[in-house]
Amino acid sequence: MIYEVIVSTLNADGSPNWAPMGLKESEGRYFLYPYKSSHTYRNLLRFGYFVANITDDILSFCLSALDDPDLQCRQAQKIAGFVYVDVCSWIEFEAFEVSEETDRGSFLCSVLYYGIGRPFKGYNRAKCSIMELLIAATRYQFYKKSFFDRCIFEAKIIVEKTGGEREMEALAVIDNYLKGVFS
Ligand SMILES: Cc1cc2nc3c(=O)[nH]c(=O)nc-3n(C[C@H](O)[C@H](O)[C@H](O)COP(=O)(O)O)c2cc1C
Repeated sequence: MIYEVIVSTLNADGSPNWAPMGLKESEGRYFLYPYKSSHTYRNLLRFGYFVANITDDILSFCLSALDDPDLQCRQAQKIAGFVYVDVCSWIEFEAFEVSEETDRGSFLCSVLYYGIGRPFKGYNRAKCSIMELLIAATRYQFYKKSFFDRCIFEAKIIVEKTGGEREMEALAVIDNYLKGVFS
């Protein structure tokens, strides 16, 4: 099973870096596969601890995937690291690189602390449609503009019907990003 989380690592100056990543759970073990080109990969090599922020706040996913946000946060419990304030839960990890054979690192992650935040509010179609669009936007090189035009059109219908202000803002963040990319 792969869970989409926002990974926070420490930059060289001690500030937090936020990036959505897939956290894979397999037979009780956790793995993370950051691209070697990412800040997350470089930060993990330098300081092998991170926080997996588990949240249904889709806007924070968009901002940390496409921009370099200054998310509101507090100190983690067991590691030097940061927890996003609007989490449902979080896990503090130590990460060991187990393979560097591809363009992605492969880290085995050992749990140091589980934390509980606010209650999960429930599944929402707007958030789900934005998540799919967002993943594609982070890999825009593999798609044509016409693909995104259709996705944005379809996501807008769902967001207007089932989302709120943060979902509208999240969709606008992706739309603006893609306009910049394809201009
Ligand atoms: C839901 C989601 C899952 C993602 N999973 C990964 C992943 O497993 N590995 C990865 O390198 N990038 C992943 N990405 C893309 C990164 O979040 C994106 O490239 C980000 O800008 C990297 O930030 P960084 O350079 O600050 O680490 C994912 C993006 C989204 C939206």
